[in-house]
Amino acid sequence: MTTKLIDGKAFAEKLRADIAQRVAKLKADNGVTPGLAVVLVGNNPASEVYVRNKAKQTKEVGMNSYEFTLPENTSEADLLAKVNELNNDKNVHGILVQLPLPKHINEESVINAISPAKDADGFHVINAGKLATGQDGLVPCTPLGCLMMLKDHFGDLSGKHAVIIGRSNIVGKPMAALLLKESCTVTIAHSKTVDLSAMVKTADIVVAAVGKPEMVKGSWIKSGAVVIDVGINRLPLEGGKSKLVGDVATSECIGIASAITPVPGGVGPMTIACLLENTYRACVAALK
Ligand code: GUN
Repeated sequence: MTTKLIDGKAFAEKLRADIAQRVAKLKADNGVTPGLAVVLVGNNPASEVYVRNKAKQTKEVGMNSYEFTLPENTSEADLLAKVNELNNDKNVHGILVQLPLPKHINEESVINAISPAKDADGFHVINAGKLATGQDGLVPCTPLGCLMMLKDHFGDLSGKHAVIIGRSNIVGKPMAALLLKESCTVTIAHSKTVDLSAMVKTADIVVAAVGKPEMVKGSWIKSGAVVIDVGINRLPLEGGKSKLVGDVATSECIGIASAITPVPGGVGPMTIACLLENTYRACVAALK
């Protein structure tokens, strides 16, 4: 079995080029430029890198980027006021509040204060409910990117058994809803699942989103399965260095899986591209 490494970087570049074309057409036809507002509270270094990348890629596809950095000690009330201001700004079509937020702020309250129509992350309870009930809404970016790569690989997903490891609101649950919509048989596994390796062995599609470095072993994978690795874990090395690894022991899957997303360069680049896709979709929906 030869194992294809799914090139998420190239896939994301293609998607961004396509979004750029649609943005240009929207400007020409409607005189509207999609705008994405990103709010960062505090100065978490990893979050600063994410936010900078988001802003850069937003501008590269021809959208407007609005960035707001608020101090670590910003009150929840002040953050909610900022969200409300962005909800009412007609130049802003997508809003993202970077997570994690400082401990004194309730993330759920802030997410649910974002207008569902501008919820570029797809985290609002209304969008989660729409996805769960099969209605159109904004879908979380990481599972959306995973779905795009799976559809590109398989075409039709119907009847495939997907085992999703991880039950988060950001990846596991929306991924399950999206795959169910594609007529997959879906199993959500998690930390309390009995005999996880035997469960994974039955999967045509494995989505690993647990945040545990190289937890999924090659011996767990059914021959010919497709493995989507959502994990991004920094593994310390000797000499103070570190390397990024996923939730899957990728090298062990070579020769067993038919395709696998590498870390880095697999799912990661698709997440921001899907954020831009969501902002575009929110802008188009606002025109109706
Ligand atoms: N922090 C890390 N990834 C994300 C993301 O996709 N959205 C938000 N809002 N915060 C994040």
